[in-house]
Amino acid sequence: MAIVFITGSTDGLGRAAARSLLDAGHRVVLHARSADRAASLGELAPRAAGIVIGDLRSAEQTRSIADQVNAIGRMDAIIQNAGVYPEGSRGSTPEVHAGVLAVNTLAPYILTALIDRPSRLIYLSSGLHRGGEGSLRDLDWTKRSWDPAKAYAESKLQVVALAFAVARRWPQVFSNAVDPGWVRTRMGGPGAPVDLDTGQRTQTWLAVSDEPAAKVSGRYWHHMRQEQPASEAADPEFQDQLIASLGALTGLALPEA
Ligand SMILES: NC(=O)c1ccc[n+]([C@@H]2O[C@H](COP(=O)([O-])OP(=O)(O)OC[C@H]3O[C@@H](n4cnc5c(N)ncnc54)[C@H](OP(=O)(O)O)[C@@H]3O)[C@@H](O)[C@H]2O)c1
Repeated sequence: MAIVFITGSTDGLGRAAARSLLDAGHRVVLHARSADRAASLGELAPRAAGIVIGDLRSAEQTRSIADQVNAIGRMDAIIQNAGVYPEGSRGSTPEVHAGVLAVNTLAPYILTALIDRPSRLIYLSSGLHRGGEGSLRDLDWTKRSWDPAKAYAESKLQVVALAFAVARRWPQVFSNAVDPGWVRTRMGGPGAPVDLDTGQRTQTWLAVSDEPAAKVSGRYWHHMRQEQPASEAADPEFQDQLIASLGALTGLALPEA
């Protein structure tokens, strides 16, 4: 049985993944943005191997999340699930970043850099990442007019590139990205065609399965099948430039090996 850390496990796909792994007998470390939100974990809380608290909009709190996870012990797998679809304005985090960049890209990067290296990393992307090419010129939306759909698409392309960059740097870690489909969650809305159980299946399988098909790295998945992501996400040059930019924005280097 594995121990798995899931970011954003208070709701939606993260919560569904946590329940599915707990029901299968695995140990799960849950995450909530605040003590108030942790109260909503309900029946999952007493079953958890730990609950860590921190708002991913804040780099300081994200670093604290890494410390809290490391204090629990080494994870077998981490599902970098938490994400936001941006609203009408760029917003500004405590470190003055665009909210969507902080939560969807910088937080997974910080947690990847600071949590004791697990055996498997899974990053939640989206099919919408295909509209997210060309972000390196203005990663933090300081030069362009705000476009929430494009900002979300860029963040989801960046997280695929992050997953693939980790796969190249850390060959002993299985690092993959997942498009869960359009799922009926708070983000996806009630009209989405995919149910929660289908939406969580690929990432939980990648986290714990011993099937050879799940023990691969640097792949982009959709509903248990590998797909080709946007060409920029798969481009090593883009990946390296992105990692350098994220290093500069966070002050944290991603170890080479
Ligand atoms: N649903 C879809 O159709 C769909 C499609 C493609 C990709 N995805 C991706 O799948 C992942 C999960 O989405 P979902 O549909 O399950 O979304 P959701 O229902 O809105 O849940 C998002 C989770 O992330 C947490 N979260 C958001 N911002 C946070 C912050 N600043 N600090 C800490 N936690 C934070 C939320 O906590 P709170 O409960 O406290 O807000 C919640 O637990 C996301 O990365 C999303 O981009 C979803």
